[in-house]
Amino acid sequence: MCGIVGIVGTSPVAGRLVDALKRLEYRGYDSAGVATIHDGVLERRRAEGKLFNLEKRLDSEPLAGLTGIAHTRWATHGIPNETNAHPHFVDGVAVVHNGIIENFSELREELKAAGAVFTTQTDTEVVAHLLARYIRDGLDARAAMLKMLNRVTGAYALVVMFKEDPNTLMAARSGPPLAIGHGRDEMFLGSDAIALSPFTNEITYLVDGDCAIVTRDSATIVDFSGEPVQRASQISLATAFVVDKGNHRHFMEKEIYEQPEVISHALSHYVDFASNRVSPNASAIDFSAISGLAISACGTAYLAGLIGKYWFERYARLPVEIDVASEFRYREMPLSPTQAALFISQSGETADTLASLRYCKDSGLKIGAVVNVRESTIARESDAVFPIMAGPEIGVASTKAFTCQLAVLASLAIGAGRARGTVSAEQEKTLVRHLAEMPRIMSRVLNLIQPQMESLAREISKFTDVLYLGRGTSYPLAMEGALKLKEISYIHAEGYAAGELKHGPIALIDENMPVIVIAPHDRFFDKTISNMQEVAARGGRIIFITDEAGAAASTLPTMATITLPNVDEIISPMIFSLPIQLLAYHTAVFMGTDVDQPRNLAKSVTVE
Ligand code: F6R
Repeated sequence: MCGIVGIVGTSPVAGRLVDALKRLEYRGYDSAGVATIHDGVLERRRAEGKLFNLEKRLDSEPLAGLTGIAHTRWATHGIPNETNAHPHFVDGVAVVHNGIIENFSELREELKAAGAVFTTQTDTEVVAHLLARYIRDGLDARAAMLKMLNRVTGAYALVVMFKEDPNTLMAARSGPPLAIGHGRDEMFLGSDAIALSPFTNEITYLVDGDCAIVTRDSATIVDFSGEPVQRASQISLATAFVVDKGNHRHFMEKEIYEQPEVISHALSHYVDFASNRVSPNASAIDFSAISGLAISACGTAYLAGLIGKYWFERYARLPVEIDVASEFRYREMPLSPTQAALFISQSGETADTLASLRYCKDSGLKIGAVVNVRESTIARESDAVFPIMAGPEIGVASTKAFTCQLAVLASLAIGAGRARGTVSAEQEKTLVRHLAEMPRIMSRVLNLIQPQMESLAREISKFTDVLYLGRGTSYPLAMEGALKLKEISYIHAEGYAAGELKHGPIALIDENMPVIVIAPHDRFFDKTISNMQEVAARGGRIIFITDEAGAAASTLPTMATITLPNVDEIISPMIFSLPIQLLAYHTAVFMGTDVDQPRNLAKSVTVE
């Protein structure tokens, strides 16, 4: 992952580089660094840990200079200490890098044999050494850059500064995103438009295989053989939004409570409430004509896709093939151009999801993107973009993006059903009426359950393992509940299909492992209750998340019962998301973890 930024400016850049890094910190927060050129000297400040450590460092040891580069790191190669923090310097060359140089070991051996001395454990250092060697061999900076780009393999976005040329930055993209920002007599480089939004909204996105030579008043783009290429600039919609928690303790809490509002925005984009119909989407995907749908995504977005699979199959009678993107991309799955593919991604930059998209594109499928960031690479490479309208999600653990993804997938599945004649006009009206009720019910539920979730979290924090169970769309939700809990509280948690319990996990049941059963009173309810009986019979402690009808129908003793209003099946995954999010959130708060920036994670995963 990592976030990178560069400025060729007309006023001192260090402060502005740090400002841009703040907007990129979601990409990693293991260490950060800034380098500038001043009076012909390259200088840098780096610090382990969060960005405020670097800010403190710069307060006591400021950096002058009108040209500079900066980096916030999510460690891949080498522990997250100051030595491994970027920018990396070798003989007047400074480099920041997002990605992985896959052939770094062989390059390192070759460079060492030629006398290079390595000081870090990173893969990035080979880039700096290669460039320094080519400069020593007599190449100019541009030729050295192109030669280096033809030696390294892997995924990278790079920004490079040369001591000998304080008025130029060089950049390259092969995989992770990189954008040029056009200012007035100044130019910027950054991992995304949001990082550059305080400086400019005129953006040129580099594509894979681009190398950019950027000065104060020009940006020249060439391919890796040096041939000029043209890339149009565009006005970015990314605003310099104020990163503000409002009255909330954490962004995650704010984002949980924003859900009624953002779901309402998302729905108004896809649903015509006047006619109670899903809006006809001017979409490049004709759902009536396709033979099947392939869905791929990672993490929480994948779990949203899994719920989407139930809906597309049930309402549109459309066969759905779904897999996590890291497997999907390598499975060599036979695909047909009669199918369409959907890729779900909050950031729109996840490397594995993007690679799966390209695999489907090469197989001739029409591509749809369900994304939050509308200018992201995944959106730009898709035939149809379905924005989820969640607004910036800062908390690393996804909450509002998940439920907005679900709202969009539900709308698309209903629309696909109508197009395929499997959802009647009457059914569509009923389903849309249920969707329309969702924001109001979400608000009510958030107020209703908050105190109970907080006290339950206190109990959960005493355990080291938790099992989540569910059937139907509650099965992916069980996995999402487990994912939320483990990523922010570090409590080990697993989500299982309730019917799988007796095929293995039941061996774990005892009084030390609470079992959270997600069971709305739907067509699977009785079967889930039988699985609960099996847990109770073995002394397991049950936390029962159900609705009013479910609570009335069960007499089993529980450690806690969370009772939600009765809702239709089409909206129950969104409503039942709320208790699992709040439980994870309050458990993490109670345990004192870093809720918004949990250890080892990053918001945008641009490496495999
Ligand atoms: C978990 C979480 C991650 C992301 C995953 C995909 O709370 O947020 O599992 O869902 O990394 O990220 P995007 O949606 O940006 O592709």
